[in-house]
Amino acid sequence: MTTRIIGTGSCLPAQVISNDQLAQWVDTSDEWISSRTGIRNRRIVKDETGAWMASQAAKKALENANTDAEEIDLIVVATCSNDMQFPSTACQVQEAIGARHAVAFDISAACSGFLFGINTVHAYFSAGIYKKALVIGTEVLSKLVDWTDRSTCVLFGDGAGAAVVEAAETGLEGFVQYSDGSKGNVLTCSSRKIQNPLQETTEDYIRMNGQEVFKFAVKKVPECILQVLEQTGTKKEDIRWYVLHQANSRIIQSAAKRLGVPEEKFPMNMEKYGNTSAASIPVLLDEMNRNGMLTRGDRLILSGFGAGLTWGAAQIVW
Ligand code: COA
Repeated sequence: MTTRIIGTGSCLPAQVISNDQLAQWVDTSDEWISSRTGIRNRRIVKDETGAWMASQAAKKALENANTDAEEIDLIVVATCSNDMQFPSTACQVQEAIGARHAVAFDISAACSGFLFGINTVHAYFSAGIYKKALVIGTEVLSKLVDWTDRSTCVLFGDGAGAAVVEAAETGLEGFVQYSDGSKGNVLTCSSRKIQNPLQETTEDYIRMNGQEVFKFAVKKVPECILQVLEQTGTKKEDIRWYVLHQANSRIIQSAAKRLGVPEEKFPMNMEKYGNTSAASIPVLLDEMNRNGMLTRGDRLILSGFGAGLTWGAAQIVW
């Protein structure tokens, strides 16, 4: 028994912020941002919350999968920017969509979160514990970035994507996932700071060593994709689409080059949304699904990478 995606959904905040608008806030330009990252716009929340966007994406995914919320056994939400410390975003989604039979919890694996979520659900399905699940990535990174730091604030965006998955005969064919806490310091964001009568510290934001993150991604992404292909005995030509975390077009172009696979097989949408962390893969999958780019039987590679450091890849049959 394996894990098959049977429906997708997404929800992006209404407010669009272009590179030109950002250039009014920090010393940057559309030319600098787009040439280095492929990003031109991002969505930023006004009133939307991470849990609300996750619930909207989940409802659309359920509709797309022709599945009732009461059929869902498990909700896994990947997020590194939850609205509340507790209850979890997953429990808030459970309530919002009426999935009253589901067990719900969040996982924290930054930009690899959706991929790790799929793999986690797969482990439950393989053990015969659950049969239907929602895997969601949702982020409000706009509240974690320092809007005076041009080296990070231009990169990120808000949004949510969801997939309904079920235990089936075909679907996920293999995966690898990794963590390296020893390199965690290259991409960090501290949680709420200590605040008590003895000690008070100031708020912190996303801090990143961009070049180190870049080097990590261009090495590890192709490496783990090749590992999955070897694990499943699949030729890289037999993969219809390589669906990578949408951090930076240059990282994706480099991965395509290193793998020797045409860039056209690597769909990208960071131009519209920036890096939405755990939401980027499910948002892209949903766009591809709704644009008719996915046919049942297509083989896809999903690959995520990000803070932790964390990274991995999975091969699925659509
Ligand atoms: N606009 C204009 N100039 C900027 C800028 C901005 N938004 N951000 C940084 N710069 C400047 C720097 O201050 C620096 O100026 P200096 O040479 O006068 O000191 C110069 O541009 C080059 O900075 P550098 O950090 O070396 O740029 P880079 O070519 O490495 O590109 C990133 C920076 C962030 C685009 C690149 O490192 C990257 O994409 N890294 C991966 C980040 C990522 O994807 N993170 C998420 C992973 S999940």
